Amino acid sequence: MIILDGKKTSNDLKDEIAEAVKIRRSQSLKTPHLAAILVGTDGASMTYVNSKVKACEKVGFNSTLIDLPEDTTEEQLLNEIEDLNKDNDIDGFIVQLPLPKHIDEQKVLMAVDPNKDVDGFHPVNVGKMALDMPTFLPATPYGILELLDRYNVETSGKNVVVIGRSHIVGRPMSILLSQKRKVGNATVTVAHSRTKNLKELCLHADIIIAALGMPEFLTGDMVKDGVTIIDVGITRVNDSSKKRGYRLAGDVDFESVSKKADFITPVPGGVGPMTIAMLLKNTLLACEIRD
Ligand code: GUN
Repeated sequence: MIILDGKKTSNDLKDEIAEAVKIRRSQSLKTPHLAAILVGTDGASMTYVNSKVKACEKVGFNSTLIDLPEDTTEEQLLNEIEDLNKDNDIDGFIVQLPLPKHIDEQKVLMAVDPNKDVDGFHPVNVGKMALDMPTFLPATPYGILELLDRYNVETSGKNVVVIGRSHIVGRPMSILLSQKRKVGNATVTVAHSRTKNLKELCLHADIIIAALGMPEFLTGDMVKDGVTIIDVGITRVNDSSKKRGYRLAGDVDFESVSKKADFITPVPGGVGPMTIAMLLKNTLLACEIRD
C-alpha cells in the first residue's frame, strides 16, 4: 500500500512555483498577487483561508485577505468583488465558500471576472473546463489529477466511482477524469445520495473518489483489493481526548480501507494541501496570462 502524500507533493509544487516567482523577479516581471474574501467566522473557512494566505507567503506571492463580517450584505460583497476585478495589481482572487445564507452564491460567483477566477467557479470557466478548453481548473479536482499523475496511477480505461456531485469537487472531477487527457480516459460513475447500489458500484471500482462529506463513510467491505482511494472529506468530529476538542476525519475509514488499497490519500495531509498548491498554480498562470 502506497500513501499518496499530498503534503510532500504540494511542497514539491510550491518549490516549483517559488522558483518560477524568483525567475519572474529576476526578469523584472510582476509578483503574483492573490486575494481572498472571507465572509463570517466559520472555523473551517477561517482555517482554509489562513492556510491559503500562508502558502502565498511561502512561494513569494503577494496576498490580500479581505475579512468581512457575517452580516455583510450581498451588495457590499458584490462591491468588494468589483473592486478586485478592477484592481490591476490583483492577478486572481477567490471568495471562500460557503457564504452566509442571505447571500446568493450564484450571483457572487458570476460577478467574479473570469480572467481572475482562480477557483474556476465562474460559469464561463466551468463551461471551458467541460469543453476541454484551456482555463483555470477548480483546485481540488486539479490537485487530485496532479497527485494521480505524480504517483503514476493509471486512470485510462479504469472504472472510477465519484461519490458526491458537488459543483466544487464531484461534478468537475467526474468530467475531468472522463476526458481525453493524460490523467483521464476513465469510465466514470457519479454516485450520490439517491444512488441505490453504491456498495456494488464501489466493489467494481478501480478508483474511488470519496467527496460526500460524511466522516468514515467508505468502509473496507465496500472496496476491492488493489483499489485506489482519494479521500476528499475533511470533517471536524468532536473528540474530547484532543486538546482542541475535535479531530479531522475523512470520508474514508482509513483503518479498514487501507488494508485493501494499493494507493490511498490520508486525512489530513492528502487532498487538502494539494488544493492549496493548485490555487497557487492557477494564480501564477493568471499572472503569466496578464504579462
Ligand atoms: N470551500 C471549500 N472548498 C473551496 C474552494 O476550493 N474554494 C473556495 N473558494 N471555497 C471553498
